[in-house]
Amino acid sequence: MTENSIDAVVLVGGKGTRLRPLTVSTPKPMLPTAGVPFLMHLLARIKAAGIEHVVLSTSFKAEVFEDYFGTGESLGLDIEYVVEDEALGTGGGIRNVYDRLRGDTTMVFNGDVLGGTDLTGILQAHEANNADVTLHLVQVGNPRAFGCVPTDATGRVLAFLEKTEDPPTNQINAGCYVFRRELIADIPAGRVVSVERETFPKLLEDGYAVYGYVDNAYWRDMGTPGDFVRGSSDLVRGIAPSPLLVGRTGESLVDESALVKDGTLLLGGTVIGRGTEVGAGCRLDDVVVFDGVTIEPGAVLEDSIIGHGVRIGANARIKNCVIGEGAHIGARCELQDGLRVWPGVKIPDNGIRFSSDA
Ligand code: GDD
Ligand code: MG
Repeated sequence: MTENSIDAVVLVGGKGTRLRPLTVSTPKPMLPTAGVPFLMHLLARIKAAGIEHVVLSTSFKAEVFEDYFGTGESLGLDIEYVVEDEALGTGGGIRNVYDRLRGDTTMVFNGDVLGGTDLTGILQAHEANNADVTLHLVQVGNPRAFGCVPTDATGRVLAFLEKTEDPPTNQINAGCYVFRRELIADIPAGRVVSVERETFPKLLEDGYAVYGYVDNAYWRDMGTPGDFVRGSSDLVRGIAPSPLLVGRTGESLVDESALVKDGTLLLGGTVIGRGTEVGAGCRLDDVVVFDGVTIEPGAVLEDSIIGHGVRIGANARIKNCVIGEGAHIGARCELQDGLRVWPGVKIPDNGIRFSSDA
């Protein structure tokens, strides 16, 4: 098996609801992460594994992907796009790209996973086991939020339990699968299918050779604000590897067009986007600041995501929040506890205090 006989399929059709309001205007895989759309990091890993043909399985805001990546030539990739008029689910999204597949082996990726796993290791295990399907698996502390996948001593998958209340193991689906291509033809076409709730359980029931590949490399699903901030910071600090950041890691990442005044502290893997201005005496710890943002002097920000074009007034304090595109946060306001400010909302000056349990 050579990497050139392998197609990569990336599922990017989800609505990213847990990252609203950032995903109202931008699909989750396109949110800026350590200076580039998140998907760039995944595509760079696919390329580093020697795979060149990539099919993006899209639905929600499909045009954004093609506008940005085009043919993929500038990345050394050959990218195709398949659009679902109505979202078909993860299994439907895989089935829908079947006629674009060129090789006998298909590597499918969830488009929101930040990881450091050696992809060639998964492919080698797939071949060595003569598997029909190989699932990348990781151990996590909260398996209820994921697909729980117990295996036997030989690595053979015993069950697939998507988001179950009482998971039998903390070993979960890491969102990367290798399929023998012909199995994809067996997924029902033209209707919604969940690969996790329908396809995998059926393959197991039918006795196919489904194996798990477990490793301890960095892994994070970027689907919630907390994980998005943490994943971005981990990239900046070199804790999460990306081929795009080799030799560029540090305590913060500031776009060269941004302006950060003296006496401001940027800590914890904070990212400052294009054209953003940060006044004097601010402190930003573990914050993702998108493009065109203005932060006035003395503001203190922590564990938050600041959307495009936001304005933050002097001495404001923001902790654990998501601020939507174009919002204005008045001077001296205090926002905390998971508060999400919707795009364009204007909060007046003078120390108004907001929090939320959301
Ligand atoms: N094309 C297409 N069509 N893609 C979709 C659709 C769809 O209808 N729905 C979701 N996707 C894409 C999303 O864009 C995302 O990249 C991926 O499929 C997974 O969807 P999420 O919404 O992020 O799922 P999750 O995080 O709750 O759970 C999944 O990932 C976990 C690992 O991160 C499941 O696969 C779990 O089993 C797994 O543990
Ligand atoms: Mg996810």
